[in-house]
Amino acid sequence: TGIYVAGLGGELPKVPVDAGALERAAEAVLPPSDFAYLAGGAGQGRTMQANTDAFARWPIVPRMMRGSARRDLSTELLGHTYASPLLLAPIGVLECAHPEADLAVARAAAAEGVPYIFSSQASVDMETCAAAMGEAARWFQLYWSSDDELTRSFVRRAEDVGAQAIVLTLDTTLLGWRPRDLDFSSLPFMRGRGLAQYLSDPVFRSRLSSANTPALNPPRTPALLTAMAELGAKGAEVGLPLEAMLAAVARFSATFSRPDLSWDDLSRLREWTRLPIVLKGILHPDDAREAAARGMDALIVSNHGGRQIDGSVGALDALPAVVAAAGGLPVLFDSGIRGGADVFRALALGARAVLLGRPYAYGLALAGEAGVREVIQNVLAELDLTLGLAGVPRARDVDRQAVTRN
Ligand code: FNR
Repeated sequence: TGIYVAGLGGELPKVPVDAGALERAAEAVLPPSDFAYLAGGAGQGRTMQANTDAFARWPIVPRMMRGSARRDLSTELLGHTYASPLLLAPIGVLECAHPEADLAVARAAAAEGVPYIFSSQASVDMETCAAAMGEAARWFQLYWSSDDELTRSFVRRAEDVGAQAIVLTLDTTLLGWRPRDLDFSSLPFMRGRGLAQYLSDPVFRSRLSSANTPALNPPRTPALLTAMAELGAKGAEVGLPLEAMLAAVARFSATFSRPDLSWDDLSRLREWTRLPIVLKGILHPDDAREAAARGMDALIVSNHGGRQIDGSVGALDALPAVVAAAGGLPVLFDSGIRGGADVFRALALGARAVLLGRPYAYGLALAGEAGVREVIQNVLAELDLTLGLAGVPRARDVDRQAVTRN
């Protein structure tokens, strides 16, 4: 109703409401290589396609005369009551979308009452984002570095900024094969983007002088000077000379992940923190069983928005079997959520909550904090309507009866 009333006064939405139009509008305002980084997927894009196709296989079957004048979107998760089953997914390198990046998203999330999952690859460090959020809920997403001391430092900082959970992302031990980034020969990290958590970390910084950092050896061309200018400017912001920034990029590339991370490593993380541990990137029911047996606190069914393996299972298709195998652990979901009716379907297939990904990054690209707020409001408004129209007024009551297998 708010949108229509504002329309009477001649005020149009700041960002397109339709998800496809939102993406196209972001594409129109962003430099092509930045849009490619945000929108791109692995290989030929088959997993991204599978993610959205999967929703068509699970149509909603509404019930009549079970509606209510007021819907209840709230959900219980890891000992907290959240206003809705929506969180903002960790998205790295948001400076590709907007100069205010994570900071604008943090403010929008706090204003809308939606928990924000800070990324390990953030463009603004977690301390700055947390300070902008007041008491609002935030989680922290971890990539487990091959430098255990650094991993531990990230976890400690997440505790210090009041994160309510650690989300350990398992599906990105190696960076996916992403043709659009490769065609642009452009990976933001190489220009020092998305390294804010690292550059502000005492352990990471203490490593920069050490001789064990392999050197980067780009061809000495004029283009290098341009890239170095961006790197140098970033260094100036954090008080690091260009040489140290080059070492930082090299150090990050060499240690950002631990490709041989194993289930046994989880016991170390458990020793380091008392925060709930949430495993992100689970698609196979046996992995869900393993996680439950290892005493994990929650899972996120996700294929990283189709950015890692080409032609992997659509995330929504993987959800029911993971829920069945998870032994009662709360299961969250992402990869393909484009509106409130998608949230509803994920809830129907057993998700306790969902993460919104690219759509909020597009809102950010178009209108900064206000754009992110509008995207959140639209998803929640559509969820609210869908609950009412489908005859399930409480989000936590949505179950398998609400959808059918097509
Ligand atoms: C991501 N995602 C991600 N995940 C994560 O755990 N840490 C990260 O730093 C990032 N970075 C990131 C950057 C960009 C540009 C995108 C699009 C995604 C994955 C993200 O959390 C989520 O799983 C997907 O975005 C969900 O898919 P959709 O809904 O965006 O298609």
